Amino acid sequence: MDQAMTLRQMREQTNPERAEAKVTFLENRRQADQGVKVFSITSGKGGVGKTHIVVNLAFALRRLGARVMIFDADLGLANVDVLLGLTPQCNIQHVLDGQKSLEEILIEGPEGIIILPASSGVQDLVDLSESQQLQLLAELDSLERDIDILLVDTGAGISSNVMYFNVAAQEIIVVVTPEPTSITDAYALMKVLATKYAEKHFKVLLNAVSDAVEAKEVFRRLSLVAERFLDISIDYLGFIVYDPAFSKAVRRQKALLDLYPHSAAGRCFQQLARHLMEIPEVTYPKGNIQFFWKRLLTRRSQPSPLFSDR
Ligand SMILES: Nc1ncnc2c1ncn2[C@@H]1O[C@H](COP(=O)(O)OP(=O)(O)O)[C@@H](O)[C@H]1O
Ligand SMILES: [Mg+2]
Repeated sequence: MDQAMTLRQMREQTNPERAEAKVTFLENRRQADQGVKVFSITSGKGGVGKTHIVVNLAFALRRLGARVMIFDADLGLANVDVLLGLTPQCNIQHVLDGQKSLEEILIEGPEGIIILPASSGVQDLVDLSESQQLQLLAELDSLERDIDILLVDTGAGISSNVMYFNVAAQEIIVVVTPEPTSITDAYALMKVLATKYAEKHFKVLLNAVSDAVEAKEVFRRLSLVAERFLDISIDYLGFIVYDPAFSKAVRRQKALLDLYPHSAAGRCFQQLARHLMEIPEVTYPKGNIQFFWKRLLTRRSQPSPLFSDR
């Protein structure tokens, strides 16, 4: 994959039929000149399926006609590219060091999904000087024309890094599995986001459940304690079933939705994507992609002139 390929070239390469297959939702969004929707996909506990969810959700959204970018913001192993069998040579660190432009580090994955590799650069991303921030923001702004949805794959847990990505996103999707530790860690994560960062709204996605009944039951347990002890509201977003097809897809370094679109989990992703496309727009203060980057990049230099124009 030629990493220096520009977004324009990527667009030209995409199948023209896809452009016609756009759902009405997207046409409406563009006509109304609405910004990019930013979702962070996060969890209290690691290994609950965030990266698989980000990759397959991106696939499903692409198939509905949305232009999707994945921001691989997990500091640990660079997962998204591994799952998709991609090998990015550069990441956001090269942009911060002034060696590459942002467009040069983007890679195009299967189905025209655009990936912004971050890995080790993530740590520096939230600790830039003001002039670095301004430069990066200018470059990031130019991406807005090319995407409809940004999915941010965060690390797990309550490190400040994970928190910043969540706080910056428009919608926080907390991934929970039926394991008791996943539920208690999700609670702990929402507690920190609520008490230290004033985040009050969460969407919960149940992963690796046997069916909708189990998903609703796990959600009920979590929401009972969360709404009772934390002053937050949590919405049930949906579920992905446990599916052995995931490990087969991993071994072939392809997305599950690429290889097994009609598998049980594949169908869950299609349903989830349709649901996400229907979520009404939230505008100010968490409404667009510029705001996402600004919140993320400027959080340490308060008060920041970047906020004064809003
Ligand atoms: N719905 C599911 N059914 C079966 N296996 C799953 C499911 N979701 C995730 N997995 C498996 O769980 C492991 C962790 O998934 P991953 O996406 O890497 O988690 P995270 O990004 O949260 O650390 C992987 O081995 C993956 O194959
Ligand atoms: Mg991961």
